[in-house]
Amino acid sequence: MSGTRKAFAAYRIVTCDEARATAGDPLGAISEGAVVLEAGKIAWAGRRQELDPALPVTDLGNVVVTPGLIDAHTHLAWAGSRHGEYAVRMAGGDYEAIAKAGGGIVSTFRAVADATPEQLRALLVARLRRVAQLGVTTCEVKSGYGLLPEHELKQLRVIASCANEADLPGVVPTFLALHALPPEARADRAGYVRRVIDELLPRVKEENLATYVDAYLDANAFQIDEGRALGERARSFGFQLRLHVGQFADIGGAELAAELGAHSVDHLEAVGDAGIAALREAGTHAVLLPIASFTLKQAPPPVAKLRAAGVPLVVASDANPGTAPTESLPLALALAVRNYDVTPEEALLGATRLAARSLGLNDRGTLRAGAAADLVVWDLPHEHAIVQPWGTPRTRLVLRNGVAISGTV
Ligand code: NIG
Ligand code: FE
Repeated sequence: MSGTRKAFAAYRIVTCDEARATAGDPLGAISEGAVVLEAGKIAWAGRRQELDPALPVTDLGNVVVTPGLIDAHTHLAWAGSRHGEYAVRMAGGDYEAIAKAGGGIVSTFRAVADATPEQLRALLVARLRRVAQLGVTTCEVKSGYGLLPEHELKQLRVIASCANEADLPGVVPTFLALHALPPEARADRAGYVRRVIDELLPRVKEENLATYVDAYLDANAFQIDEGRALGERARSFGFQLRLHVGQFADIGGAELAAELGAHSVDHLEAVGDAGIAALREAGTHAVLLPIASFTLKQAPPPVAKLRAAGVPLVVASDANPGTAPTESLPLALALAVRNYDVTPEEALLGATRLAARSLGLNDRGTLRAGAAADLVVWDLPHEHAIVQPWGTPRTRLVLRNGVAISGTV
């Protein structure tokens, strides 16, 4: 047996491996289990008693081990603070009205425009370190607060520069191309959209700054024809798509996402039966963002209908300074269970295997031989407890590619 192999035993190894899942145990948990790591990958997972007896084992005790959590929707690369606007909103101010008055996304745009790349990077790195403590080993991070080409490219370069740092969670970069109209472009909306598609998108491609392209499609944001023009061009460049759809109104975003072969549609508080049928047909992932709907005091998306249609459910944080002022994916899982009638098992699969699949990361999100050694040792007695101690990091050790990014081995 090679000396570089390392074995961990624990009360429960929650594999999230489809091959081990049963109707009664969708998470494929192994009681008195073990995992063997080698060269940054999982070499073996199974019952402790079946472990190679020649292998030295670290016994973690009465704890749970899961795959590293994957946050499939964040806006973590922001600057500034929106505490003033939050107080106004909590006193009854309306999010969309605040946005129209120059608050919201546009106020973060100003803070991002004023930040140097070094300042922006330091903010992002600090947030990535904190999310690692919460058990997150991979994060999708969107741009979308730059709005103007120069600042959008600055934000994307910062995000891309954090993509593969060995001591941080991995980053999947998304170009959120149409998020809000910058005040400078209000007089010429069509010109702004055209420049994003014809000038900025090719730059993002040329510099290889993003894997995904996103747009905020809603009644008070960008419209279906604008999303289609962007999406078609992005696909022609080889980008994959994830789209903000139906946060406030159903304008047909789910149907468009399905038509364009988007990997995910995110939010879905407002989606009708035709949209759900289109998602089912296309196999699109629904990314639920329960922190945003909680902050905005909105009713949940039609989760029961999505589930019944067989649409894969992902749960993400939406971490952003306006509608989801937290970095905590475990808090999103807690609220998915509390407010969306998502089961603890669905929540965990939606933050591991299904989140990975929605990001095209098929070697992450499960504890199975051959997958990346991304795992969390939780200081908790059962996987259901992950959705309970709200707001408190409960990880003992977080590994990415076999390297500790939080805690110590
Ligand atoms: O996903 N809905 C649009 N975008 C973000 C909010 C961004 C902000 O308010 O800064 C969201 O909720
Ligand atoms: Fe978002």
